[in-house]
Amino acid sequence: MRIGIVTGASSGLGRAYARQIDKTMKLDELWLVARREDRLNRLAEELNVRCRIFPLDLTRRESTEELRGALEEEQARVEILICAAGFGKFGRAEDLTAAETDDMISLNCRAAVELTRVCLPYLDRGSRVLEVCSCAGFQPLPGMNLYAATKAFLLRYTRALRWELAGRGILVSAVCPYWIKTEFMEVARNTSHPEAVRHTPFAVRPESVAAWSMSMNRLGLAVITGGPIPLAMRLGSKLLPSCVPMAVWEGMRRM
Ligand SMILES: NC(=O)c1ccc[n+]([C@@H]2O[C@H](COP(=O)([O-])OP(=O)(O)OC[C@H]3O[C@@H](n4cnc5c(N)ncnc54)[C@H](OP(=O)(O)O)[C@@H]3O)[C@@H](O)[C@H]2O)c1
Repeated sequence: MRIGIVTGASSGLGRAYARQIDKTMKLDELWLVARREDRLNRLAEELNVRCRIFPLDLTRRESTEELRGALEEEQARVEILICAAGFGKFGRAEDLTAAETDDMISLNCRAAVELTRVCLPYLDRGSRVLEVCSCAGFQPLPGMNLYAATKAFLLRYTRALRWELAGRGILVSAVCPYWIKTEFMEVARNTSHPEAVRHTPFAVRPESVAAWSMSMNRLGLAVITGGPIPLAMRLGSKLLPSCVPMAVWEGMRRM
């Protein structure tokens, strides 16, 4: 059975990926993963492809185990894996609670890596993996420190994974967008210091990020930025000492 797996499918970018897969790929089943079951059911009803719902909290280790069990049972071939589940919190490291800190690392880093590991035996030549990182991962970001650090981790992991899987003909990309119009901001502002980042200008639509990044992944791009701002951030982080982008960001986030 040829399947696709999308985490974070109940909202924003993950949901846009599910719709894009439905439009552009031929699969036997699309597996949708997130905590909000009602949202996943609604999406499944809307899509043409047969969907299987996994209402799972990916911060819990048992969740990836459940997915591993389903893969084994179906002996599925994973045509596309998209790890889009993730969240950020505005605020300095000291503003975040222990639970926020733990969950962010657990979801943005551990869950993405663990689900990818579980899927590895089920990927084959031509399979595709998109790990949703962020341009926040290009440089350290005071006031959004932990989130940026989790995305830097995922970006490094994804780049090396691409090399490791190249011999098997598997296309792996790190997707590093700028602000996107999703529920991300609402979640990020629900913290003790929501004003740590005052504005999120020039946000783009999740549909365009999903469509663009899936096309660029097909072309084999390692890191997909998709726009002049994240591209400039990427180049800046390569060419300048980290204190320069950090100083620019410090000014921007307070405006
Ligand atoms: N929006 C931006 O500006 C932006 C920019 C760059 C990168 N990104 C990245 O893009 C990805 C998608 O975010 P988004 O912008 O689409 O935000 P979003 O609308 O808030 O979606 C986040 C998704 O993650 C899921 N999720 C959150 N906690 C989870 C958990 N414990 N277990 C399972 N699923 C969980 C949510 O589903 P449930 O709540 O139903 O579980 C939701 O489907 C994230 O990795 C984010 O870091 C976002």
